[in-house]
Amino acid sequence: MTTDLPFSQACENNKAPILEVLRDAFESTARVLEVGTGTGQHAVHFARALPHLQWQPSDHPDAAHLSRLRLEQAGLPNLLPILNLDVGASPWPITGFDGAFSANTAHIMAWPEVEQMFQGIGNRLTLNGAFCLYGPFSYQGSFTSDSNRQFDQHLRARAPQMGIRDLDDLNQLARAEGLLLESDVAMPANNRLLVFRSTGTGG
Ligand SMILES: C[S@@+](CC[C@H](N)C(=O)[O-])C[C@H]1O[C@@H](n2cnc3c(N)ncnc32)[C@H](O)[C@@H]1O
Repeated sequence: MTTDLPFSQACENNKAPILEVLRDAFESTARVLEVGTGTGQHAVHFARALPHLQWQPSDHPDAAHLSRLRLEQAGLPNLLPILNLDVGASPWPITGFDGAFSANTAHIMAWPEVEQMFQGIGNRLTLNGAFCLYGPFSYQGSFTSDSNRQFDQHLRARAPQMGIRDLDDLNQLARAEGLLLESDVAMPANNRLLVFRSTGTGG
């Protein structure tokens, strides 16, 4: 019997361009924490392509079931089972990691949760570790496309706490956690991949 796994077409479309950036950002990384794993398609793809590192997927306890079967079926030695992690939980159920990744989470989380994500990662990421954050972002209040503006309106109509985040606000959060923006890479469909590097002064 086959089971249909939860599936995201967007993940299929963006996993290759994201991987090209992760290859450099995580070149000498041993252990990556992924926040908000969703269907697990990114986790499987990146763990398979980057066998030198261990990939730790995680998600909010209400969503962790979405990826469980796909992660198990992948059978990859460097891909760990899904970890229950609500970024608002204290303490986080994980301590050290030298890389972090999160895709399409900052516009779904409420702003205080975005702050908690940066705090939790900034406090635990080892010196020179990279935090790679993928998604749509605005720049000094301006959207990079009409489709992103419409997406932001759609999100805020669905739930007022959601919305596309501005790079200036994220950067301010990041700096407070000892994370410096190293690169901001254009991705397909008007998305970006932000790479922050830890200066080891978080928390
Ligand atoms: C739009 S989905 C993105 C999933 C996947 N990363 C992707 O790119 O397809 C947003 C993800 O953020 C997670 N999320 C939302 N609030 C969270 C929280 N407080 N702590 C951890 N994860 C959270 C959701 O459970 C979901 O997996």
